[in-house]
Amino acid sequence: MSDTAPKIDVVPVTNEGELFQALAIREVVFIEEQSVPEGLERDAEDVSAFHVLAMKGGHAIGTGRLVALTEPPPGEQGKWGRIGRMAVLSSDRKSGVGAKLLTALEAEAKKRGLKGIKLHAQLSAMEFYKRHGYEADGAVFEEAGMPHLEMKKTL
Ligand SMILES: CC(C)(COP(=O)(O)OP(=O)(O)OC[C@H]1O[C@@H](n2cnc3c(N)ncnc32)[C@H](O)[C@@H]1OP(=O)(O)O)[C@@H](O)C(=O)NCCC(=O)NCCS
Repeated sequence: MSDTAPKIDVVPVTNEGELFQALAIREVVFIEEQSVPEGLERDAEDVSAFHVLAMKGGHAIGTGRLVALTEPPPGEQGKWGRIGRMAVLSSDRKSGVGAKLLTALEAEAKKRGLKGIKLHAQLSAMEFYKRHGYEADGAVFEEAGMPHLEMKKTL
């Protein structure tokens, strides 16, 4: 990245307008690009989740969310969270925005005293999560019409 490249800031969503920006990115990435049905993409967790936005030059280009889990994965202790709905606009991928989103969500999880993170990775994103310390946990399964893998990371 050159010195003149716009800075990317990851910020927490603090109001309804920002949540709409996050949902708009998810609409483009999941509903339009990946053909995930709207009824699956939007769920009840959005109300209580911690959401972040990646901002570039005043525009939202990426998002992700952290949800508290009611129980840890089998064999684990303490409170765990789930990171999900990670989405970066296609024109801004492969330049580290996803990494910044994931780092910000993990930092929030640590701040909340969570012991680890679980997630459902699309198989196409498995390498991305592996690079960030996540390990596959279980077999491949189908979700929203795409193969997924459960992955986890101890914080
Ligand atoms: C998954 C996703 C969020 C990752 O976002 P991203 O901004 O592309 O993530 P990053 O740029 O941090 O990393 C992606 C890859 O780019 C590479 N990369 C990072 N910075 C780079 C740079 N400056 N130049 C070239 N490559 C770079 C990384 O090595 C990484 O490779 P990997 O996939 O083998 O780990 C994004 O691809 C996306 O929105 N996909 C569609 C929705 C989706 O599938 N979401 C995940 C659901 S589980």
